[in-house]
Amino acid sequence: MTDASSRPPVLVAAAVLVEEGRVLLTQRKRGTHLAGAWEFPGGKVEPGEDPRAALVRELGEEIGMEVSVGDPVEVTFHRYPEKSVLLLFFAVTRAPGSPDPQALDVADVKWAGPGELHDELFPPADVAILSKVRALLAPR
Ligand code: CDP
Repeated sequence: MTDASSRPPVLVAAAVLVEEGRVLLTQRKRGTHLAGAWEFPGGKVEPGEDPRAALVRELGEEIGMEVSVGDPVEVTFHRYPEKSVLLLFFAVTRAPGSPDPQALDVADVKWAGPGELHDELFPPADVAILSKVRALLAPR
């Protein structure tokens, strides 16, 4: 009963934060699962924690931003060899007066346009929402 497939999934909240036609991405630190991958910023929801509150906490810790968490955008499930993750993606906006994102507890941060969202840069669990995000970024 200790193999990954028998454990419940890790619940993760992640942000889709779009400004001026670009979406905010963070790069995973060295020594972490999927190090070097670019992802939608976020992290684990603690036991008993509201997923939206977890996202506010994670964005504060990782990139020093104050945000408001809006509607769910997508839910994805992915089974990695060592664990499975249930990812809740939310639309997020910067709170008035929030600083710009800084790489406080991530390797790097960037604002990416639709042409930069290449599947191979992302953790597999994030790839499922890329087409939706590209559509959000497309000029209307
Ligand atoms: O920061 P914290 O330790 O709370 O969580 P994390 O390590 O960032 O995320 C937990 C798991 O979710 C890791 O295995 C990540 O690879 C995965 N994850 C993901 O697949 N996509 C994201 N956008 C965020 C996390």
